Amino acid sequence: MTQDLFAAEPTPAERASELRAQLHHHAHRYYVLDTPEIPDAEYDRLFQELQAIEAAHPELLTPDSPTQRVGGKVLDGLVPVRHAVPMLSIQTETDTTAGGAEAFDARVRRELGRTDTEAPVEYAAELKFDGLAINLRYEQGVLVQAATRGDGETGEDVTQNIRTIGQIPLRLYGAAPEVLEVRGEVYMRRDDFERLNERQREKGEKTYINPRNTAAGAVRQLDPAVTAQRPLSFFAYGMGEVRGWVVPGTHSGLLDALAAFGLPVCADRCVALGANGLVAFHAQIAAKRDALPFDIDGVVYKVNSLALQRELGFKTREPRWAVAHKYPAQEQLTTVQAIDVQVGRTGKLTPVAKLAPVFVGGVTVTNATLHNESEARRKDVRVGDTVIVRRAGDVIPEVVAVLTDKRLDGAQPFTMPTRCPVCGSEAVREDGEVDHRCTGGLFCGAQRKQAILHYAQRRAVDIEGLGDKLVEQLVDGDVVKTLPDLYRLGLMALANLDRMAQKSAQNVLDALEKSKQTTLPRFLFGLGIRHVGEATAKDLARHFGNLDDIMAASEERLLEVNDVGPTVAQSIHTFFQQPHNREVVEQLRACGVRWEEGTPAERAAQPLTGKTFVLTGTFPTLRREEAKELLEAAGAKVAGSVSKKTDYVVAGEEAGSKLDKARELGVAVLDEAGMLALLAT
Ligand code: IVH
Repeated sequence: MTQDLFAAEPTPAERASELRAQLHHHAHRYYVLDTPEIPDAEYDRLFQELQAIEAAHPELLTPDSPTQRVGGKVLDGLVPVRHAVPMLSIQTETDTTAGGAEAFDARVRRELGRTDTEAPVEYAAELKFDGLAINLRYEQGVLVQAATRGDGETGEDVTQNIRTIGQIPLRLYGAAPEVLEVRGEVYMRRDDFERLNERQREKGEKTYINPRNTAAGAVRQLDPAVTAQRPLSFFAYGMGEVRGWVVPGTHSGLLDALAAFGLPVCADRCVALGANGLVAFHAQIAAKRDALPFDIDGVVYKVNSLALQRELGFKTREPRWAVAHKYPAQEQLTTVQAIDVQVGRTGKLTPVAKLAPVFVGGVTVTNATLHNESEARRKDVRVGDTVIVRRAGDVIPEVVAVLTDKRLDGAQPFTMPTRCPVCGSEAVREDGEVDHRCTGGLFCGAQRKQAILHYAQRRAVDIEGLGDKLVEQLVDGDVVKTLPDLYRLGLMALANLDRMAQKSAQNVLDALEKSKQTTLPRFLFGLGIRHVGEATAKDLARHFGNLDDIMAASEERLLEVNDVGPTVAQSIHTFFQQPHNREVVEQLRACGVRWEEGTPAERAAQPLTGKTFVLTGTFPTLRREEAKELLEAAGAKVAGSVSKKTDYVVAGEEAGSKLDKARELGVAVLDEAGMLALLAT
């Protein structure tokens, strides 16, 4: 080994600057590009090294140091900031059809004096993010101030809060302009919002209304520690004051340049030609609106050439070169006609508001969940109330707020029934639980229907053709009371049901016959034991190898299974302690339902036994399902979400929040090649 005797140790100042550069680089890879190069633990090590240097040499601390993202002071109030260049608003085109885009293009052409025969105008088309507008001021590449829009002339200083947002660079990449103000939107992703509310619900605390209000509230917090707890994101869409930089000639070029500086710029944008280009973009985004990970309330069209923008100029506070073209709103007012209580497979009672039909988020909504009694009570939704309903993405519509000043006299608060509305059994709320449950079990028709559908689904024993309608008739007609009754169905009984032709009756019988040959994990999952999803069913099958041992296992023995905690162990144990459940299992076996059983010992020697993986993103060669099979064949467990118990996250292209979570928790991240290498060891 050679040793360079002349290489001096870096000074603390040199090392600090090197560490800052490395940390900036890795934060950008992680937060903005979503393609980290180093494991979390390594990032933490670099971070701690920098913290230690800064603690020993406070004079080396710089405002762009990654260590400064958190730790700001609690303020008495937000300080006003006068914008160097006013933050304008944007004209809205409320015609949500293609006509909206055509009207804007026609206006622009008229203002520019272009005749019909002249070339189409080039536009930059992008999304209209539903959050809070922010001005980020970078001086010599360092973030020095962040301010809200306020009235457009004067906003509020929210620098300490904005620093907590990992996606916002504290220092720009490359040759930094003397001054560059970046404008964009702080928003909250829908999955982050749902998770936040799920946690609130679990704690029995107030839920947030929508991602926009939550993001806006978080940005305007006086205590940055609170903001740091809120998962916020950012997209850049424009600029304010600029000094010492040659601004690109087009808006699309500006966005490219901002991305190159390390700022997050949304990829759903394009350069569109003329009205047709705008109409196509509007339609394309409308089609994928629900699938976007965040809320948008429309798209924005901007004349692409900055020279033409200058020529068009402003009309009071709005530029003539831009317009927001809306989509149908994701929140609407309607009235509550009734509050029903629905019964789920596990007996969970869910209050559901029956609504006067309302068009929201692109569909007509007549039901909205109220989740549970405490949430229904906290929101105090009453029959007759005028409420705000929200439907965004493929999340179930929700009542988010009540307009109490419109309440009718005599409206009564909602109370949960003490008996199951379907079977009349007692409904109870166990200690520490937020949900009420029907105690009727399979005596309850609602639970029976759900239980049969659960057992018959493709991921369980897979009985093709046994759908909602048929199960409804079988249960309501008392033809099927328990799962084994399914296998006792005859051609006559089936063919006698409404609309059940002889031929389809035979198909169902064939499907039932076919379903008898199954696997232990599918069968276990199909039983519908509370807390036993597909993954746990696989774990149990792998661990015990056969059903009898699972049925006989004590809670302690169940706890030995990978990823089975006390709640799950108790649920499995209780299930198999019930004589009627054991009876169902025995009868199903007697009807001929079978699977191959193994012994647990066979599996003990597998290389990845006990390791939990989470897959995310698109892999270069393997399909997700294939990767899963390979891992499971090696004894690993593949879970759907990242937790402290996850051993590895395998991330492909466009990996999203699971990767964030992995980094947050310090879980090792592999790419496909890394996973294959691990499988080969
Ligand atoms: S451009 C001069 N682009 O919409 C044009 N705004 O009233 C200035 N917004 O407060 C705005 N997405 O918060 C622009 N892609 C986008 C946007 C966008 C959302 C918001 C912004 C602003 C409001 C405009």
